[in-house]
Amino acid sequence: MSYRFRTFAEDDTAAVVALWEACGLLRPWNDPYRDIARKTAEQPELFLVAESSDAAAPTLVGAGMAGYDGHRGWVNYLAVDPDQQGTGLGRAFMAEFERLLLARGCPKVNVQVRAGNERVLGFYASLGYAEDHAVSLGKRLIADD
Ligand SMILES: CC(C)(COP(=O)(O)OP(=O)(O)OC[C@H]1O[C@@H](n2cnc3c(N)ncnc32)[C@H](O)[C@@H]1OP(=O)(O)O)[C@@H](O)C(=O)NCCC(=O)NCCS
Repeated sequence: MSYRFRTFAEDDTAAVVALWEACGLLRPWNDPYRDIARKTAEQPELFLVAESSDAAAPTLVGAGMAGYDGHRGWVNYLAVDPDQQGTGLGRAFMAEFERLLLARGCPKVNVQVRAGNERVLGFYASLGYAEDHAVSLGKRLIADD
């Protein structure tokens, strides 16, 4: 498959939400539309989609959000079209995010993976991501549901 990365555009919204849904990333407590609106207001240049140019019309085959908070880089909502998984696109996404984060001086990238999700843990391990001996804590400030 040939594809190109570009930054998210508002017209991609429906396709991105459908992709996240197909990849099992939607959670009742996260409104993807509000998450997209928040991301387009903060470092929108780190919200990427991958567009396949194989079909007559370009098709969205991947999406992901990165961010740099001045200390750590983060990647969230990374999703590759289930039909294209295992072909190297996820690896290419992470390489592109790492390149963009490094260009900002980001010294370390963190990702959060649900405990027990061995498939995704295997993916990140193959890219050199190691488990940090830390417990991830969170506090909701805005309820989406
Ligand atoms: C996780 C995801 C983004 C990976 O994308 P992908 O395109 O399927 O992954 P790639 O084909 O680029 O794989 C990259 C490497 O990971 C390896 N890998 C993938 N799954 C693996 C596993 N379970 N165990 C070991 N290695 C694994 C691949 O073998 C490949 O290594 P190689 O390039 O040396 O062969 C994709 O599977 C996905 O969208 N999953 C559903 C959504 C999700 O869970 N996202 C993560 C949120 S934290």
